Amino acid sequence: MSPFLIAPSILSANFACLGSEVEQVIEAGADLVHFDVMDNHYVPNLTVGPLVCESLVKYGIKKPIDVHLMVEPVDQMIEDFATAGAHRISFHPEATKHLDRSVQLVVDNGCEVGLVLNPATPLNCLDHIIDKLDFILMMSVNPGFGGQKFIPQTLEKIRAVKQRVQASGKQIRIQIDGGVKVDNIRSIAEAGADTFVAGSAIFNQPDYKQVIDQMRLELSKVNMA
Ligand code: DX5
Ligand code: ZN
Repeated sequence: MSPFLIAPSILSANFACLGSEVEQVIEAGADLVHFDVMDNHYVPNLTVGPLVCESLVKYGIKKPIDVHLMVEPVDQMIEDFATAGAHRISFHPEATKHLDRSVQLVVDNGCEVGLVLNPATPLNCLDHIIDKLDFILMMSVNPGFGGQKFIPQTLEKIRAVKQRVQASGKQIRIQIDGGVKVDNIRSIAEAGADTFVAGSAIFNQPDYKQVIDQMRLELSKVNMA
């Protein structure tokens, strides 16, 4: 596994010129394109669907599209986003009645699969399913909006998830989403995360490369001892 991945969330991009925004953030060093899907049902906000994902692929975006489903139910959207060109798909366990079936559906559609834990989701939701996951997406804000403040208790939770991942003996990435900035990315990495979603921290600045470079500089100082 490559050590650290940076996944800008296009939720904070300018949707009037999304293709160009995504190109620019890839040019600036993004590893993944984080694509937040909200349905005004599972979360109180509404964003974009598979048509927009497909448009980005047709536009020529080659970096993996990391689809974060904040929708309920999830199964139809899994199939639709896989068809639209998603590479990774994650969803919330509360949003499906049949967790194992939904996880398997992502796998059967050829995508990497992740389970998303809200700040108050207990870790026992990983029981009986962790072995099938490629990544665990940990929310460090309550899902629904960009630009919220990082919930500090998440650091302890990341450490606990890291232990579960190590106990599983599997190569499972730990991704963090919400309030990630240049000034906290290092401590988040030291807690055990390896994939970093950042929306407002990147897109609200004029120079995306400068922010991503600063994040990588912080990550280069990570002390895992
Ligand atoms: C929130 C989304 C996040 C959001 C992060 O529900 O899942 O991906 O875009 O935005 P920032 O980085 O601004 O907290
Ligand atoms: Zn997200």
